[in-house]
Amino acid sequence: MAMHKITLTINGEHEVVDVPSQWTLLQMLREKLALTGTKNGCTTGECGACTVMLNGAPVNSCMVLAVECDGAEIVTVEGLAHDGQLDPVQDALIEAGGVQCGFCTPGVLISARALLDRNPDPSEKEIQDALVGNLCRCTGYVRIIEGVKQAAKL
Ligand code: FES
Ligand code: FES
Repeated sequence: MAMHKITLTINGEHEVVDVPSQWTLLQMLREKLALTGTKNGCTTGECGACTVMLNGAPVNSCMVLAVECDGAEIVTVEGLAHDGQLDPVQDALIEAGGVQCGFCTPGVLISARALLDRNPDPSEKEIQDALVGNLCRCTGYVRIIEGVKQAAKL
């Protein structure tokens, strides 16, 4: 198995990682770096549970090879809170009741944070569009959308 040494920034930390050439970013995060907040739902790019930020944009980490991330900046759900304070979108999603089983939540939070970073005052349609790749089997989406709306006001 060919190994590659890659250098990247994950949640603000400089990391040097040896990864097999065929490993996905999702595998590297969960199996090499123990960042298990990022979930493995489908491994086929359908569910969004594995969403992380890659250079500021949300991506399905199951569809990105780890070696493609050499030099990249990655943010996972573990990187959203700062100094013991949850990100406003985390607080708002909890407050709105947008978390049930929680399996989709890390991906939803990353997609929502990426949206609010590029558009701090999104319309409901823009929130729906930003979350279209994040499937949730529990909430019916209404409370998730409400949480993102509330986060935009914080
Ligand atoms: S696990 Fe990546 S999209 Fe489902
Ligand atoms: S809260 Fe269960 S899948 Fe979304």
